[in-house]
Amino acid sequence: MKSLSIICQKGGVGKTTIVVNIGKIFAINGIKTLIIDLDPQGNTSTYLDFDKNNEFILTSQDLMSGNKSKEIGYLHENMAIIPSNQSILKFNNEKILGGSVLKKTIDSFEFKDFDVILFDTPPTMSSLVQEALSASDFYLIPTKPEFLAIEGVSQAMNFAKKSISNQININPVFLGVILNQVDTRRSSYVDFENELSYLLADKLLETKISNSVDIADSPYHLKTVEDFKDDSKSKIEFYQLANEILERMNINEKITQQSHY
Ligand SMILES: Nc1ncnc2c1ncn2[C@@H]1O[C@H](COP(=O)(O)OP(=O)(O)O)[C@@H](O)[C@H]1O
Ligand SMILES: [Mg+2]
Repeated sequence: MKSLSIICQKGGVGKTTIVVNIGKIFAINGIKTLIIDLDPQGNTSTYLDFDKNNEFILTSQDLMSGNKSKEIGYLHENMAIIPSNQSILKFNNEKILGGSVLKKTIDSFEFKDFDVILFDTPPTMSSLVQEALSASDFYLIPTKPEFLAIEGVSQAMNFAKKSISNQININPVFLGVILNQVDTRRSSYVDFENELSYLLADKLLETKISNSVDIADSPYHLKTVEDFKDDSKSKIEFYQLANEILERMNINEKITQQSHY
């Protein structure tokens, strides 16, 4: 089992979109995936049409309190979700210097059957994000290709580094930065990409996700790119991203759009 946090203190950069779409692609292609939502907004559940307030289902606040007495919610035979809601806010400002509660609970759970755990995180620099980092093997930072986003990326990288150096035995690997909502027609795009690739070198993911109205509308229609046509540009890009993530996490699997038919 390997785990990945998607983090960035900026909202609207695509954290939830990436978790949900990559999670679904992994699951459909036989990679057993657990999504853990640590964002009080609970967008992951809404996107996947899952009831985040079902009292019989294990939630991320249960994980944070060490409560193991509930069922894990399944969305697909290969895909489970641990939803979040507003009640996780009470953990938002806890100091985790004494060691991560989340990591301890996750280690003691029967999560070993999952191949991948994906953490969705809130758009903050809070202890909830630090909890996610503590429980992760890798972390990924999404950004939009905008001028101010460079600052956002370096702030996210610094926050992660600081969080990691403050704790013992916790050392998630920086997977890289993924450019989302790319519009190559914008005149600033090439400059922006050049600057990021200069700063990040091989930590800038090769895959870029284009801006697409289908993705923008997909939460409304409760769809993921998996429901799009096979020749959809977004679907092709997300499959490429899924493979690049697997490769960077050293998971020896390659998936193709047709592999599950
Ligand atoms: N590649 C994209 N093209 C168009 N819209 C996108 C794309 N990625 C994300 N969005 C939209 O942008 C909004 C913010 O994305 P979201 O994943 O919720 O960001 P975050 O979780 O970082 O706050 C959502 O409405 C989502 O549908
Ligand atoms: Mg989100």
